[in-house]
Amino acid sequence: MTYTVDDCMRCSQLVDSRRRIVDGVGSMDADLVFVGEAPGQREDDVGEPFVGRSGELLTEKLESHGVSRDDVRITNSVRCRPPENRDPRKKELANCRSYLYSELQEVDPEVVSTLGRVPTGNLLGDGFRMADVVGEVTELQIESSVYPLVPCYHPAAMLYDRSKEAEFDSVLEKTLILAGYI
Ligand code: URA
Repeated sequence: MTYTVDDCMRCSQLVDSRRRIVDGVGSMDADLVFVGEAPGQREDDVGEPFVGRSGELLTEKLESHGVSRDDVRITNSVRCRPPENRDPRKKELANCRSYLYSELQEVDPEVVSTLGRVPTGNLLGDGFRMADVVGEVTELQIESSVYPLVPCYHPAAMLYDRSKEAEFDSVLEKTLILAGYI
């Protein structure tokens, strides 16, 4: 791995609120990278993205297709837990974007899936309604590399609104097919 986030001090509030930097996990050879928003409390405790309730749900959904967490890469738009779990600020997303871009370029996946509004806006820019872009294949360009990007709802959305589950399932299935996992 050539990129490193060790001892990053770019965001003063996040340096104070984090217990540790939570880097991406999973295979660096993965054909699919999930990009979330930011570590929550559990992720900050454990040092791994998506290990709280929404992460368990994501893991269950992947396993229902015979795919394990280790088969994909799971990362976040910012790598430090924001205070009170607030949304990452624009400046914090910008500060952390070079780490995400380096990670994506090193993994060089077949597909990138953003989980929720914040990572989708981070990679595609603002001015969209989540409902309009969920499940649509768009493109993410990083320097000379172009990756298919499929926005999906954040798994936490299913915890608040079970009616989102069917759509989450169908977007996940489409994404796994596109990335060649099933
Ligand atoms: N939500 C996220 O967006 N990322 C995590 O790591 C956990 C929950």
